[in-house]
Amino acid sequence: MKTLKWGILGPGRIAEKVAEAILQSENGELYAIGSRSLDKAADFAKRFGASKSYDSYEELCADDKLDIIYIATPHSFHCEHSMIAMKHGKHVLCEKPFALDADEASQMMNCAKKNNVFLMEAMWSRFLPGMKKVKELLASNAIGTIKTFTANFCFSSSPEQKPRLFEPSLGGGALLDVGIYPVTLACSFFGFPLKSSARADLTDKGVDATSYYNLEFVNGVKAEMFSSIVQEGDSKAVITGEEGQIIIHANCWTLQSITLKNGKETSFHTPYEGSDYRLQIEEVNQCIEHGLKESSVNSFQWTQGMMQVMDDLREKMGVDYKTKM
Ligand SMILES: NC(=O)c1ccc[n+]([C@@H]2O[C@H](COP(=O)([O-])OP(=O)(O)OC[C@H]3O[C@@H](n4cnc5c(N)ncnc54)[C@H](OP(=O)(O)O)[C@@H]3O)[C@@H](O)[C@H]2O)c1
Repeated sequence: MKTLKWGILGPGRIAEKVAEAILQSENGELYAIGSRSLDKAADFAKRFGASKSYDSYEELCADDKLDIIYIATPHSFHCEHSMIAMKHGKHVLCEKPFALDADEASQMMNCAKKNNVFLMEAMWSRFLPGMKKVKELLASNAIGTIKTFTANFCFSSSPEQKPRLFEPSLGGGALLDVGIYPVTLACSFFGFPLKSSARADLTDKGVDATSYYNLEFVNGVKAEMFSSIVQEGDSKAVITGEEGQIIIHANCWTLQSITLKNGKETSFHTPYEGSDYRLQIEEVNQCIEHGLKESSVNSFQWTQGMMQVMDDLREKMGVDYKTKM
């Protein structure tokens, strides 16, 4: 298997974790870092053993030796930065949320097709073994006809601690940052929703500090979820059927500990080796090795569907980034 040379664009908080995952992957090499600051790029490169550092995203993307670029900037730059990389003929793994909205997502997918490169959203939970386990339990009718799903992803922060989360021009707010995980779980298990409702407690800058949303799926399955950047939650997900429950224990988005209650109680532990992000990196490496331009797991159709769900929920909760940029 050919070694793939990875570049990181925007070496911030999450990039550190994904850098570790690239180093853990079977045929990924961390080759170059691009930051707005050369010192920062060089420091990151030194810490993670990358050979090259750039003080411009454009120059990073122009490096002929690179195969793939991981986009780790704030949401509002995902479209622009992914397109710079793809126009330089680089494959792209782009952080979640894939884009600010479905329109940007379409532009990115068209750009990938035009430049004949691979493109995927870094929604890593979809590659974890626990995701497959829950789907198997549902397919085996382990809890009978499904009635409800509940989940949340919340944490308590402030503009002083994490300015990006509260800044509308960077796509701040709870839904796109963390709410995307419970919605991903719901849509992974039940498909895309037929109906929705949403409301939010907005900050004075107009992003959702706490957001609440209900989705209704085929066969009447109803999901009730919430997300917050200003309060804690229990981080648990529960699927309730007529004959029992599947509990995905905290943190539900890692799907590592699952309990099936259906007359008796059975526990499933579905750990994985290495970092949370390693399996998605292996997926990208495999897809590129096989000449694929999209992943069958986080396919364009999946990501576009998720972006439409996010757009719909944001519209209903009154969060509009485009008027605030
Ligand atoms: N998959 C996950 O589990 C996960 C977890 C956390 C975050 N994320 C996603 O990853 C993305 C980045 O999140 P993060 O928490 O790592 O962000 P962060 O640390 O605040 O910022 C990431 C980097 O973006 C670059 N950047 C470019 N323009 C910027 C601007 N105007 N303001 C601030 N930074 C700018 C900066 O790099 P330079 O200055 O060095 O160029 C910065 O270090 C978000 O879209 C987020 O949703 C994913």
